Amino acid sequence: MSASRTVLLGAVLTALAACDSPPADLREWRPSDHSNAGSGEDPGGGRAPSDPLANARALWVSQCVACHGREGRGDGTQTMVRPPDMSAVAFQDSHTDEQLATSILRGKSGTMPSFASLRPEAVQSLVRLVRSFGGR
Ligand code: HEC
Repeated sequence: MSASRTVLLGAVLTALAACDSPPADLREWRPSDHSNAGSGEDPGGGRAPSDPLANARALWVSQCVACHGREGRGDGTQTMVRPPDMSAVAFQDSHTDEQLATSILRGKSGTMPSFASLRPEAVQSLVRLVRSFGGR
């Protein structure tokens, strides 16, 4: 046996010995290892770009925050009108999705402006965003 073959054999044996007893917890990753897998939750953890409400949030920030505040608590910088606290159970319980959508499209009481040019999908995602302020 030549010297180089001996070295090679030694290397193979060392490698085999190393494979002999793999750590018990070393196995292939499975989707079920991900804590959100199968729960129907957004695996992105609510972060863009997989966030389904990303567009609504962008609209909210540009069109609604001044009056409604970031989290819909009615604490925006615009203090001439007093929007409701959308995180309140009372607010959430007293409005259907249809009512929220209609108010967004048509406005309300002369203080909530109408956003009639929004596409229906945009209105629906804004409604879901409003629900999320109430933890729904
Ligand atoms: C100029 C300030 C202002 C802006 C901008 C504004 N709102 Fe409002 N919004 C109000 C006020 C004030 C009310 C409360 C109206 C009332 O109940 O009399 C309101 C109420 C609402 C309601 C509850 C309606 C209901 O049926 O009780 C929703 C939903 C809503 N706004 C969504 C939005 C969304 C979405 C946007 C952005 C696209 C937006 N608002 C922009 C002032 C504003």
